Amino acid sequence: MLDVKKLLKKNPFVLAPMDDVTDIGFRELCEEKGACYSTTELTSINALVRGKVFKSRYEKGNLRINSVQLFGSEPDVFVEASKIVDKEADMIDVNFGCPSPNVTRQYAGSCLLKDPKNVGNIIEKLVKENEKPVTAKIRLGYKKATHIEIAKEIEDCGADALAVHGRTAAQKYSGKANWDAIQEIYEKTNITLIGNGDVKDEDDIAKYLNSHCDGLMIGRAAIGNPFLFERFNYYLKHKKKLEFDREKLKEKQKELLRDYLKKLENREFFNLNLKIQRQSMWFFKGIEGAKEFRNKIAQEKDIDKIYRAIEEF
Ligand SMILES: Cc1cc2nc3c(=O)[nH]c(=O)nc-3n(C[C@H](O)[C@H](O)[C@H](O)COP(=O)(O)O)c2cc1C
Repeated sequence: MLDVKKLLKKNPFVLAPMDDVTDIGFRELCEEKGACYSTTELTSINALVRGKVFKSRYEKGNLRINSVQLFGSEPDVFVEASKIVDKEADMIDVNFGCPSPNVTRQYAGSCLLKDPKNVGNIIEKLVKENEKPVTAKIRLGYKKATHIEIAKEIEDCGADALAVHGRTAAQKYSGKANWDAIQEIYEKTNITLIGNGDVKDEDDIAKYLNSHCDGLMIGRAAIGNPFLFERFNYYLKHKKKLEFDREKLKEKQKELLRDYLKKLENREFFNLNLKIQRQSMWFFKGIEGAKEFRNKIAQEKDIDKIYRAIEEF
């Protein structure tokens, strides 16, 4: 069985799950550039058992490690859903952090943080019925911070690792992530801990890794930026920042976008065109002409023409 703690010792950088961002192509790219592993976008257990989920949402593809994130509320349905993704998954992750009303109104995501016993029931059942690691991703609490109680419950119920976004659900993305609270979990539990929230550069590695947590999970800073994992690994190894040549940035990002498009070929997605537009906007963010490029491919369905537009960009 995979040992998450050992994995993080070798490489502590994990790509965060982000709905509509971290599709299989993007995750493969981040792993190639140095992410230890990544987690799928959140996937509904109810939709899974009804057969309503594209396989591309949870497939392993060419990933070394595929952590599949599930959300829902019923422990038995979690187990049923985990069996459906079993062949593709190396780990099962449970979302206890999503603050979106679409999710919380189903009594799922961060809504479950209101009731730590329920969190425990889900983890316990999944651990009992699965041979692979079961992990959880939480926020600090729903309205008020209850992180210690929740983290202990998750640890006691046998989860292999815990990722913590240092905000409550009520905070959404406002303010700064509370890394003192993440450190408190590190000190008061023995669970393998992955800290998350506002990690954006090498200084954050020095500030938080091994003092606040065993691994760092990176979300928004990695959007359009898989090279961040290369930079972070370089920093860890050489204790200095990787110099990068801004002149070459555009060509590097073009290459990356081409790689990304290749990874999407022969896979089925909900809205491929929109996905390509969004990702290219992120890959070319801050590069002159990015907006015009996006407009050029906005209605383009012919993939060869998109490759040509990249060439001409
Ligand atoms: C666009 C977007 C989509 C997200 N989708 C998910 C998700 O599907 N599952 C999840 O657990 N967290 C999700 N998150 C939360 C992130 O995983 C992460 O916890 C949060 O962005 C804080 O990390 P960061 O400051 O590094 O971005 C999402 C965040 C963003 C910005």
